[in-house]
Amino acid sequence: MNKKVVFNGIQSSGTPHIGNVIGSILPSIELVKRNEADSYLYFIADLHSLTTEKNKSQREKNILELAAVFLALGLDIEKAILFRQSKISEVCELMWYLSCYTPYPMLANAHSFKDKSKNLADVNGGLFTYPVLMAADILLYDTTLLPVGRDQIQHVEIVRDIAKTFNKNHGNIFIIPSYIKNISSNTIVGTDGRKMSKSYKNVINIFLEKDDLKKQIMSIKTSSTPMGEKKDFENCNVFKIYKTIASVEKQKEMQEKYLSCSYGFADAKRDLLDLIYKKFEKERELYKKLMLDEDKIYDVLKSGEDKARVLAQKKINQVRNVLGF
Ligand code: TRP
Repeated sequence: MNKKVVFNGIQSSGTPHIGNVIGSILPSIELVKRNEADSYLYFIADLHSLTTEKNKSQREKNILELAAVFLALGLDIEKAILFRQSKISEVCELMWYLSCYTPYPMLANAHSFKDKSKNLADVNGGLFTYPVLMAADILLYDTTLLPVGRDQIQHVEIVRDIAKTFNKNHGNIFIIPSYIKNISSNTIVGTDGRKMSKSYKNVINIFLEKDDLKKQIMSIKTSSTPMGEKKDFENCNVFKIYKTIASVEKQKEMQEKYLSCSYGFADAKRDLLDLIYKKFEKERELYKKLMLDEDKIYDVLKSGEDKARVLAQKKINQVRNVLGF
């Protein structure tokens, strides 16, 4: 029987927003708590972030923030390995090998590339081969299960295809990973109603102080239904965001308020602000403390790296061996 290895990575591109937190980070932390697998590897995809972020100090800051978020949200580092991708250089070597087993059209159809391909002058090779580096990440550590957000599923399918092609040629070197689609990651909307994404500048960051958080929440686009009329909660961006974190009772309460005629969008935003502020109060404090103690974060990452490296070296040797390098 294969060991059960749960694996997930998040690109470090600024403080993770509530979409990342609900869709990917919290479910990953939750899996560690359930303790049903043999190991848990979570990593910060800083090599992937180089596709867009060229500034060294900004990238370093992003890495620290993401690691601090994992820790502040309660990742158990006794059980899980948290590390940064770039520290395990074997991943780049594996990426090259895998890229020679990846058909061009598969990459040309990947949405990470396709979304940007309207403006090809802005696309770099790293963006194009993004899924191959993901494949190297995943296959290097004998991953069996990925708790990914919906937007990553196509990438994981590509990874499975690459692994199968390699195995067909060289024997069963790679484990074909499966994934669980995080139910709650059904594309969390941003303040403008599009998918929440840093590149759209429509994010909500739960680690902000109240005034700044308030600014983000107040900027949520709403309809122009006036006070004194019932409001459509289902199509309201405020309610859509509220729903992702509120209990069922709280959701019902808010729905009733929307139908009450005396509840305005500013009221709804205030309720959302209160909920986010209170719900993540402890985590926000912890996050602030951690960000003042960078050494502690680096220690955690270093110990994660040391463990990840052992696994990576074992696998890369196997691959070199079958390829004759
Ligand atoms: N593409 C993921 C993101 O945008 C990050 C990532 C890189 C990843 N490699 C991975 C996720 C491997 C899961 C598995 O956040």
